Amino acid sequence: MSDILGDMRRTHNCCELNTADIGREVVLMGWVQRRRDHGGVIFVDLRDREGLTQVVFNPVFNSDVHLKAHEIRSEYVIGVRGKVEKRPEGMTNPNLKTGEIEVFVSNLKILNEAYTPPFLIEDSIDVSENVRLKNRYIDLRRPSIQKNMILRHKSAAFVRKYLNDLGFIDIETPVLTKSTPEGARDYLVPSRINPGMFYALPQSPQIFKQLLMISGFDKYYQIVRCFRDEDLRADRQPEFTQIDIEMSFVGEDDVMELAEGLIKNLFKDVIGKNIETPFLKITYAEALDRFGLDKPDMRFGLELKDISEIVKSSGFKVFSTVVEKGGIVKALNAKGCVDFSRKEIDDFTAFAAVYKAKGLAWIKVKEDGWQSPIAKYFTEKEKQDLTKRINIETGDLVFFVADQPKTVNDALGHLRNQIAKKLNFIKDDTFNFLWVTKFPMIEYDETEKRYQAMHHPFTAPVEEDYGLLKENPLAVRSRAYDLVLNGSEIGGGSIRIHQKKLQETIFENLGMTPESYNEKFGFLLSALDSGAPPHGGIAFGFDRLIMILCGGSSIRDVIAFPKTQKASCLLTNAPSETSKAQLDELCLRIKTVKT
Ligand code: AMO
Ligand code: AMP
Repeated sequence: MSDILGDMRRTHNCCELNTADIGREVVLMGWVQRRRDHGGVIFVDLRDREGLTQVVFNPVFNSDVHLKAHEIRSEYVIGVRGKVEKRPEGMTNPNLKTGEIEVFVSNLKILNEAYTPPFLIEDSIDVSENVRLKNRYIDLRRPSIQKNMILRHKSAAFVRKYLNDLGFIDIETPVLTKSTPEGARDYLVPSRINPGMFYALPQSPQIFKQLLMISGFDKYYQIVRCFRDEDLRADRQPEFTQIDIEMSFVGEDDVMELAEGLIKNLFKDVIGKNIETPFLKITYAEALDRFGLDKPDMRFGLELKDISEIVKSSGFKVFSTVVEKGGIVKALNAKGCVDFSRKEIDDFTAFAAVYKAKGLAWIKVKEDGWQSPIAKYFTEKEKQDLTKRINIETGDLVFFVADQPKTVNDALGHLRNQIAKKLNFIKDDTFNFLWVTKFPMIEYDETEKRYQAMHHPFTAPVEEDYGLLKENPLAVRSRAYDLVLNGSEIGGGSIRIHQKKLQETIFENLGMTPESYNEKFGFLLSALDSGAPPHGGIAFGFDRLIMILCGGSSIRDVIAFPKTQKASCLLTNAPSETSKAQLDELCLRIKTVKT
């Protein structure tokens, strides 16, 4: 054979050999993790994705090979043939699976050289994420990321097997398609063959999976890439993966039960964790009332209390005026936090301001009474009522926000999480699952100044709210459900509208004219009229789920080639400018962009 490997072929991976192999001749291949020259004897830690094996170049054992080993540097790719030996007394490494043996090398092939890597191939490195992403192929050599990617693979394999065994069918849906509204902006792809026309990349396969139900496929799933042009955060990527599921002839409980079974078995299979099912269910209204957010972290208490009734005619004008104008006042009792400093309270105030709170009033409850800039405004009766309602005790620090409900809930809901984090209330190894149900169908978008679907416009309304569709659409609840894990939304779905008439009403509620909905969704309306079964489903955010299974805090750590906060790939430099020729072919011209 003339290729560089010659007759050398791997017999084992770098995590496989142990004392049972002593005396065997083996061939290992991999990357040089470390080379140590110990006065004549050279030791190399050889690495592949499975682990490390120590290989030894001993001049007494083989002088040619030892001489050649001087050329080896970190990250060189080598192949070695040698004999497995027991490590001498005192030289074993209990932290390494192969720590009791080493391989005495009789033949070395340097398969490739490597430049000095920009950072060490270890987990405890202190390098900026940008440097890691720019050199992602090197970053991906680090054990923790390899572990994450392998866990991701195992999870996907498990999900497929679980759903296959239950009779689900994996069907691919188009990537070049029409807009699928999930609340984000679309990524558009210009069509060369149809100049001036664009495909949209799917925000989810939502409409296609409904069409598949209408075609009679009944139980569908797909582990599928979705694309959303939205502001990015630690748990959001412009392209991400869903476990997408749809079923016919089902109600909410059937979908939830399927989802719970999948999650329970996945956690057991992949990380050996027992998860209790069924999960707790609370309505959207209750979640907002008690926790301020529609994805509450219920690993800790710290519930919010509405005190509008108590303070509506108080002397503290900030509170009374807000209530007069239809706003609310809520309190958050940080139990035992009386010793927080002014600086800490100022930091919390700045934090609440991010969520548009105009201020953060507070009361410290000391042995000798309330210490607070606002205590003087309250009567004894109001103080007593507040004490009872908020369960005020000595040692507490109570925060208040007064504003329109959305701002109050947003600010205090996030403050609640922030305080729990600061006080280490959250045990890392608990998995708290929760269903949030009965979301409003429609919300008013202040920025866009229009109504929009809270989930997507194909979600069915709760039947008893049908009567409200015309006169008070904002009060209509939907048959949508989100699955929340430790305060993170890991899945969402709904029972769908399966009748054309109702779907048209909802489009109209969203401010669409028959022309516009027929132009955009005529094919769906027609399909609904062709014999559509009642159906519903769910989609899990696969990246988020894996992030939590891996114990991580950024989905970038579970995606092989993720994008930055600015939606760019530092490795390939995408997105990038394109040639004039390509633009011409697509009949596109770039307007001068102001930066
Ligand atoms: P939804 O929009 O709630 O529902 O999306 C489902 C789940 O996908 C995850 N997710 C994301 N993960 C990473 N980056 C993003 N940008 C991102 N956006 C969403 C979340 C979310 O819960 N078609 C419906 C599902 C259905 O109704 O069946 C849908 O897409 O974890
Ligand atoms: P002021 O009388 O404006 O100095 O405010 C007294 C306290 O009330 C300060 O701690 C402010 O942060 C707080 N405050 C002001 N506006 C609000 C509001 N809308 N909600 C809660 N607290 C507020």
